[in-house]
This record gives sequence, C-alpha cells and structure tokens, in this order.
Amino acid sequence: MNVILCLKLKICWIQYIKMKRLVKILKKAHTKHFKKLGTDGFSLASFGTKVSDSKESQKKQFIEKKPYKKRNFISKSASVNKKALLESPVTLYGNAGIRSNTSIGAFTYINTGTTVFYGTTIGRYCSIGKNNEIGPVDHPMDWLSSSPIQYNIKEHFPDYLEYCDDFPQVKISRPASTIIGNDVWIASLVVIKRGVTIGDGAVVASGSVVINDVPSYAIVGGVPAKVLKYRFNEETIAKLLEIKWWSRDLKALAGIEFDNIDRAIEQLRGNHEQ
Ligand SMILES: CC(C)(COP(=O)(O)OP(=O)(O)OC[C@H]1O[C@@H](n2cnc3c(N)ncnc32)[C@H](O)[C@@H]1OP(=O)(O)O)[C@@H](O)C(=O)NCCC(=O)NCCS
Repeated sequence: MNVILCLKLKICWIQYIKMKRLVKILKKAHTKHFKKLGTDGFSLASFGTKVSDSKESQKKQFIEKKPYKKRNFISKSASVNKKALLESPVTLYGNAGIRSNTSIGAFTYINTGTTVFYGTTIGRYCSIGKNNEIGPVDHPMDWLSSSPIQYNIKEHFPDYLEYCDDFPQVKISRPASTIIGNDVWIASLVVIKRGVTIGDGAVVASGSVVINDVPSYAIVGGVPAKVLKYRFNEETIAKLLEIKWWSRDLKALAGIEFDNIDRAIEQLRGNHEQ
C-alpha cells in the first residue's frame, strides 16, 4: 500500500517538475517575442491567461482606483490555445477564439465572434471588433478535392479513422503567418486573408475582405479591400512611425493631448520621451 502511495507521489512530483519547466520555456519565448516590439514599462513576465468576469472586474478596478494590475481579461466563453502568447493586458470578449502559435500585444481587445487563426501576430493597442476572421486557412483547390478528408480527417471526422487506420493523409502547406501591426482598428465582419500584413495605425472598414497588404495608417474597405484614404498626411505618418508610441506603457502616455495630433507628436518627441 505504502509503495503504491510512494509511487503515486513520485509521479506527481515528476509531473510538477515537468510543468514548471514548460512554464519557464513559454515565459522565455514570450519575453523574446515582445522584446522585439519595445518593452518600456511593459510587464513581460505575466504570461498566460487569467479567467475573470472581465467587465465587472474592470469596472471595479477603475472605481476603486486600485493600482492597475497587468493581467488579461478573458471572457469565460472565449477560447485561448495553450500555445498563444498574450502580453497582458489583453481583453477578449464573448466567444473570441485565439488559435495556436499566435501572439497578441498589450492593450489590444478582441470582440466576440472573432477568430484569430494559427500563426497570426497582432501588435499593441489594436481594436478588433465583432465577427472577424483573421488569417483563416485556404483549402486545396488544385487537388482531387478541396475537402479536408485528404489532409485533416482526424479533426473533421474523428470517428472515421477507427475504420480506416491507414487512410492516406497528404501534408498541406500554407502561408505561415498573418501580421497585424500596432494601433490597428479592424471593424466588424471582416475577413483578412492568411499571409497578409496590415501596417501600424491602419483601419479596416466593416464588411471588408482584405487580400493584399495594407500600408501603415491607410483606411481600407470593400471587397476586395482598397485604400479609401489615409488617417493623416505623409509627414505626420512618417513622424508617427518614427516615434512608435506603442512601445510605451499607459503611464508614459499620461497627459498626452490625444485629440490634437500635432501637439501629441510634439509631446511624445519632447518631455514624454523615455
Ligand atoms: C471605415 C470607416 C471608419 C470610414 O468612416 P468615414 O471616414 O466616416 O468614411 P466616409 O463615410 O466618409 O466614407 C469615405 C469613403 O469610404 C467608403 N466607405 C466607407 N465605409 C466603407 C465600407 N465599410 N466599405 C467600403 N467602403 C466604405 C465610402 O463609400 C466613401 O467612399 P467615396 O469617398 O468614394 O465616396 C467606416 O465606414 C466604418 O467601416 N466603420 C466601422 C464601424 C464598426 O463596424 N464599428 C465596430 C466597432 S469596433
């Protein structure tokens, strides 16, 4: 009896050590990734997701003026893959879905009905509305069929494999990643084709299908999406891209005149420079 108990304890201990190692590896990957974005004042240690009643606890935090905590607010019905990296604070509403090998920068929120497909990188301070598909996968179009029975029967028809163990599965290759910059606003009902890069500060109008890269600070819309206009003139855009204000934490943005772009740029270049 004692021997069995000892064995069980030993197994538990080994599993605990393994988990600790895994968390360490994931934290390291997280830090490395977000260091590339600039790290002034950001909490890089806070890896992972924390489930909470997002709206209520956010409200409470502001009302009570507690020192602000760097943690994620994830709705209970949202799904976040274990291999997703969230740089807190990130907010996920409703049933937002975050697939594997994705990374999402701090102060980005994603609304309900939106899916972020595997391999997507999203920057900081992005606003992502309802019912968007970011980086969905294409099916093969020049094979016998476009059906996943050829390459992913396991996920779509799991029971069938039992009767057909050696059903040939063909490896499918797809564009590796979709990149969404910083301060990007993706409205609602948008599809962003896998492999597209959306520049910093860009806006994607509601109902768009984005199939080409989007320049920084462009406002694009339509099917397929075209540049409708730019948020600012060329000179202002160049200054903003040089400042990269998204590399700063909220505290470093305090006092900035957000609604006066010229003044905000002056302030970011001057006193507020870190
Ligand atoms: C992109 C958007 C912000 C542009 O707003 P705006 O600056 O007031 O734009 P305007 O209405 O002046 O339209 C400018 C041009 O863009 C076009 N346009 C506007 N919205 C468009 C859309 N969704 N798709 C395609 N073209 C669009 C207009 O037809 C117009 O074209 P024109 O100059 O040839 O006449 C707005 O249309 C939009 O999509 N808002 C999203 C709202 C939303 O979904 N919010 C969810 C909360 S996250």
